[in-house]
Amino acid sequence: MSDTRRKIMRVLDGESLSPPPLWLMRQAGRYLPEYRETRAKAGSFLDLCYTPDYAVEVTLQPIRRYGFDAAILFSDILVIPDAMKRNVRFTEGHGPEMDPIDEAGIARLNGEDVVVYLRPVLETVRRLREELPDETTLLGFCGAPWTVGTYMIAGHGTPDQAPARLFAYKYPRAFEHLLMLLADVSADYLVAQIDAGADAVQIFDSWAGVLGEKEFEAFAIRPVARMIASIKSQRPHARIIAFAKGAGYQLKTYRQKTGADAIGLDWSVPLAFAAELQKDGPVQGNLDPMRVVVGGRALEEGIDDILQHLGHGPLIFNLGHGITPQANPDHVRQLVERVRGTK
Ligand code: CP3
Repeated sequence: MSDTRRKIMRVLDGESLSPPPLWLMRQAGRYLPEYRETRAKAGSFLDLCYTPDYAVEVTLQPIRRYGFDAAILFSDILVIPDAMKRNVRFTEGHGPEMDPIDEAGIARLNGEDVVVYLRPVLETVRRLREELPDETTLLGFCGAPWTVGTYMIAGHGTPDQAPARLFAYKYPRAFEHLLMLLADVSADYLVAQIDAGADAVQIFDSWAGVLGEKEFEAFAIRPVARMIASIKSQRPHARIIAFAKGAGYQLKTYRQKTGADAIGLDWSVPLAFAAELQKDGPVQGNLDPMRVVVGGRALEEGIDDILQHLGHGPLIFNLGHGITPQANPDHVRQLVERVRGTK
């Protein structure tokens, strides 16, 4: 019976599968020539995200090429601030930018129409579930409040999120309000993705690793726990992966306190510790994306270490962060074959 269920969903329910199912963070992207072609046709990056024809196409590209066990909706974590009218733009060579927000701006923020504004993304989810092979899990996603908040405050990416950390110490009430508003809006957005056909969702907290101990609890754990409680109260069957990059030693508490079904591991998490974390539930990760750039022995050894330490428990094989534009598509094929043991 259970054999007919999608593999990633089985692992999210605690099963150990050998070989483990796999997908790669940022599996649709600039390392693929077919992505670059569609991206050029779409015009701006946000047009790509908001045009279902294009977004469906780029989501499917890595599935056609490699047959990953999951497709991840093609979109971006910054569509939420875009929907909140922060004037988000992606200019070539600059990374994302938006109007930076201050205390007064936070007081005026309104989350009401976010899910309505993001209808094209939900349409993409619906079409994907129709077009994907039956065995492929469809993942929705959004950013965690802390990570999205860091971009909203600085107005752009920074190496250590100093602007958001400064803001949080100076204006704790406004910052708390921002995080809780983002948590509520993001939870409703994920529920809408699930209703549109996403099998499971991932919450990306890419900047969790710059937080001190107390701030990790207040800014990374609490808002994500609030989101997960809200999603699970609305859709009890929802399965949620939480990826807190750089959280290291705190990941054990992170899973317990947020209620995430699976936790994503970045490549700095030691595999012996990862195996401990796996006793509490499924883990996902954690190959260094640079090994996919280099290929050869660096790629093989990295994969083999992960399989040796984590391959006997509930594991979703993945990278420890997004694949980079420099990755070689042939190396990705070698990765898939090695994880699946087909070569
Ligand atoms: O994984 C997937 O294939 C799904 C699509 C996806 C994108 N961004 C597409 C994208 C996902 C899940 C994201 C998440 C995201 N976006 C995160 C969290 C995960 C992480 O990588 O840390 C963050 C922090 C962002 C914000 C963001 N979007 C940045 C910092 C950038 C620029 C960085 C860069 O590589 O240029 C983006 C742009 C972006 N999002 C691209 C893609 C494919 C590249 C833009 C392009 O094609 O021009």
